Amino acid sequence: MEFQQLAFERRSIRGFKQEPVPKALLDEIIEVAAQTPSSMNTQPWHVHVVTGDVLDRIRTGNTERMLETGKPDREIRGHVRYEGAHRDRQKRVAAQLFEAAGIGWEDKEQRQDWAMRGFRQFDAPVSVIGCIDRDLIDSTEAYFDLGQFVYAMVIAAWDRGVGAVINGQGIYQSSVVREEASIPEDQLIVITVAMGFPADDFPANDVVSERRSVEEIATYRGFDGL
Ligand SMILES: Cc1cc2nc3c(=O)[nH]c(=O)nc-3n(C[C@H](O)[C@H](O)[C@H](O)COP(=O)(O)O)c2cc1C
Repeated sequence: MEFQQLAFERRSIRGFKQEPVPKALLDEIIEVAAQTPSSMNTQPWHVHVVTGDVLDRIRTGNTERMLETGKPDREIRGHVRYEGAHRDRQKRVAAQLFEAAGIGWEDKEQRQDWAMRGFRQFDAPVSVIGCIDRDLIDSTEAYFDLGQFVYAMVIAAWDRGVGAVINGQGIYQSSVVREEASIPEDQLIVITVAMGFPADDFPANDVVSERRSVEEIATYRGFDGL
């Protein structure tokens, strides 16, 4: 597919077929992402691709520890709570997803169930854990580099019929992830991407989230008459 079409048609997938994703296909996807530019060509990214029992232990540990402690234990700094326009956009996409999934806004139990799905990485058959080299922990560029790598991976996956959701919740309990996936100490766990073939009968997979317009995003100077 053309990039234009991929960019406009891709959406996050949160319901997956219980079908394995061949390693050769994952290799292809990662190879595309490996072409991502990075600061001074440092390529500070690593991915740990997990499935089967390892992923199941991560799901269970992440969920149990979230229920026990009620708060994330990540290796990166995160926001406490979005405010203002960010909060509005967060609520809007949540409302779209809940509506598609048949979850009432006031239904605490169903909302909790949705959060649990996130902790379980939406029961995806594959989780791709994204890390950066720990010695770059203070380099904002390294996180930027990994972010670009992750987007390239998601787009390459979509192009091959593989759905994905970038899933912060899946690594909220990063110590569990570190232990179960045997992440080396010199790498920092930043994010995970849940991947698999999209389920056909999962309406939240069809949600098209909204975007700000170019006029709202971009400020031009010196373009008079251009
Ligand atoms: C860094 C990052 C973390 C995310 N974490 C989660 C998450 O924990 N749970 C979730 O359901 N979606 C998560 N998402 C997906 C976003 O909600 C989604 O990309 C956004 O709403 C836009 O929707 P779209 O991907 O369908 O275009 C995350 C996305 C990014 C980039």
